[in-house]
Amino acid sequence: MHFLINCNRFIQDLNVAVVTIIVLIGTISIKWMSRKHATHFVVVGRKTSKLPFAAQINWYRNGSALIHDAYKKFRDEVVQLPATDRQSIILPLRYLIEVSALPHSIASVSQATSDFFMGRWTTLHVGIFGRPTLDAIRSQHISRLSRQLDVDWRPIAVHPAILSIISQTGMRTIVGPEVCRQSWCLKNSTGYARNVFMAATILKFTPAFLQPLIFVLTPYIYRIQFYRHRFFKAIAPYIRQRIELHNCYSDHSLSRPKTEHAHTLDWLIHYSPPDELTPEIIADRLMGVAFGATHTTTNHITNCIFDLAANFEQWAPPLREEIEQFIGSKKTGITSADLSNMWKLDSFMKEVQRLHPPGKLSVNRTAIKSFELSTGEKIPSGVHISFPGAFISLDDSQFKDAKTFDAFRFERLRKDPNTNQHGLRFTSSYAGSLHFGHGRQICPGRFLGSALSKLLIIEILQHYDMKLENGKVRPESVLIGDMIIPNTNYKVLFRSRQ
Ligand code: HEM
Repeated sequence: MHFLINCNRFIQDLNVAVVTIIVLIGTISIKWMSRKHATHFVVVGRKTSKLPFAAQINWYRNGSALIHDAYKKFRDEVVQLPATDRQSIILPLRYLIEVSALPHSIASVSQATSDFFMGRWTTLHVGIFGRPTLDAIRSQHISRLSRQLDVDWRPIAVHPAILSIISQTGMRTIVGPEVCRQSWCLKNSTGYARNVFMAATILKFTPAFLQPLIFVLTPYIYRIQFYRHRFFKAIAPYIRQRIELHNCYSDHSLSRPKTEHAHTLDWLIHYSPPDELTPEIIADRLMGVAFGATHTTTNHITNCIFDLAANFEQWAPPLREEIEQFIGSKKTGITSADLSNMWKLDSFMKEVQRLHPPGKLSVNRTAIKSFELSTGEKIPSGVHISFPGAFISLDDSQFKDAKTFDAFRFERLRKDPNTNQHGLRFTSSYAGSLHFGHGRQICPGRFLGSALSKLLIIEILQHYDMKLENGKVRPESVLIGDMIIPNTNYKVLFRSRQ
């Protein structure tokens, strides 16, 4: 999973002193760096200089191009990327079914996420995404979203505005209204995510034997601890209260949360085994859920707004017509059924994601133990594996005019009786659409992410018109390694609906 953060802050926030120390120490460890690339798979884009961090910098700047190159030249072969911190292998599509069926104990998405964010140091350890967290997310429904976007006819920087709404509405579904309305709460989950990202980036540039030193020196780790501590202090009394309530039932199945009012917190308590029912463990997992939910959903909604604004006259009228048909003037009580009846909106979301997915690599796993693919290829333990999902989605073998944005493409496919219907809904997946992952470890929060995105776009379409500034085209995303981040500064013009 790829959780994406404000790039400008990233550059400003880079601590010069720490970087200098890393560079100095790094010169001593060139040898250590080069031994990482020894495997029998074809390695793409290896010809970087031997200077310290050359491979890392090349990956951060050109990761997307390297993956694209690999896809074009070796689409039917297993290739190795010039990974910065781990051995990273891209698999051809023929392995999708077998790999996506592997259990956590053999190839784990949680471990891949934790590795990606250097979880050993940044607190995003694999246990955060353990079974109870995943079950809690899957069981949860959101009751309703609060209305918070309050804008007049003016340019609005989309990403920060959506981030603040999603942080709050996300936290509302995770911990409930009492906590999410407290003023610190909003900044807490974004601050935590930003500092995890920063710390992970610095640690990825650091040889393993020096990581304990950098761990002590970098300020981001202390900030991560600060955000965790503040969250824990505020949430612990609620957790204790809920655990006590849960313990009142000798038959715990009776304490099953009432769907409509339950928060992730309630579901987590419901699913956690008794020895894990402590405020510390529950708070830890709640941080993990907030981390998983916030930036993925914010980035998707930002992309939706960019694509809407770029061609508002073309896409808004049919979407508004559909909203009118299924929701009308309903202010509250929009149901999941209403949302799933709106095929145009669903198709629009999927098409936005097809062209602007969260990352270039999909179905990410870390091999927990060595295993063999059906063709006999050996995947060693600890290796990262994935599929080039972003490029598959842009391949003409998968879609007609694959490079063109066609908002209602998936609606048409769903209505076509001759099309294989599998994977055409926004939250479902197939080879052409791997952006929530695939198989038994697919994103557990995709229904919540989809509902939050749809409700917010409905709200905006009902009340606002939007456009890009004259002559402007949709802003390009920022590419860092295999991550894709929508432009976080870009302003779209909004006005009250005419
Ligand atoms: C549009 C919004 C979202 C997108 C695009 C998205 C995307 C993803 C992707 C690509 C993965 C990795 C799957 C893989 O590589 O196979 C993932 C995993 C995950 N997502 Fe999401 N996600 C979204 C929303 C959410 C939300 C709202 C939550 C929480 C409520 C969430 C929680 C998680 C968790 C916990 C994992 C790790 C699963 C595991 O370890 O087994 N996601 N997500």
